Amino acid sequence: MRLPYTLPKVIGHRGAAGRAPENTLAGFAEAARLGVTWVEFDVMLSADGVPVVHHDHDLARTAGGPGRVAELSYAEIAERDAGSWFGPAFTGERVPSLEAVVKELARLGLGANVEIKPAPGLATQTAVSALSVLRADWPDSLDPPLISSFNREALAAAQDCAPELPRGLLIERVPEDWRDALARLDCATLHPSRKGLDLAVVDEAKAAGFGVAVYTVNDPEEARHLLGAGVDAVITDLPDDILERI
Ligand code: G3P
Ligand code: MG
Repeated sequence: MRLPYTLPKVIGHRGAAGRAPENTLAGFAEAARLGVTWVEFDVMLSADGVPVVHHDHDLARTAGGPGRVAELSYAEIAERDAGSWFGPAFTGERVPSLEAVVKELARLGLGANVEIKPAPGLATQTAVSALSVLRADWPDSLDPPLISSFNREALAAAQDCAPELPRGLLIERVPEDWRDALARLDCATLHPSRKGLDLAVVDEAKAAGFGVAVYTVNDPEEARHLLGAGVDAVITDLPDDILERI
């Protein structure tokens, strides 16, 4: 599948992770205020099967102490404060459900790269649950979300249950089989890490018609260089810095 739209040059990582607590409603509002038109965020499942927007599989770093997302009900997760670790101004932020995030993005007019980040053993279930929320609730006013994952089983499940939504393959180090993987999963985009990225891969992916989004690019010079070299989008914690200087 080809991407049915042009990606914005700058996508806010986990909202605007350097400016507001990552993957929270306040973070998405801050990303919009800083001027991005799209955000990236991570989706995993609570123990009772609710797709929630959170990055780590454990709540220790961002939500008030240890606890595995996959072992807690959404009600238990929602009791946690997911903002005060970042700063007192954000006290009371919650780990949002995907449903709540979609509502907020609709209100803010923000498009999204939705990363499926399943706990071990839950790849298909996480993708199916997340895609079912997106299919039911995603507003017509926004471009369809771009579904990405490091997990190929999750991407295959997304392909089965929502073939109309574009998919992107996330990779830390570009593997030998990236061309086959993109073809097999009918992906529209490749999402390599900035670390050790070979621009020849960008050239080849672009020549073959794929979009390329690179994460996590926080240095404006590097962002300018990558965008100049044909990268479509950089995913950044500091969207204001990048937008101002590219
Ligand atoms: O989707 C880009 C980036 O978010 C992938 O890495 O660990 O920040 O989810 P991570
Ligand atoms: Mg992510």
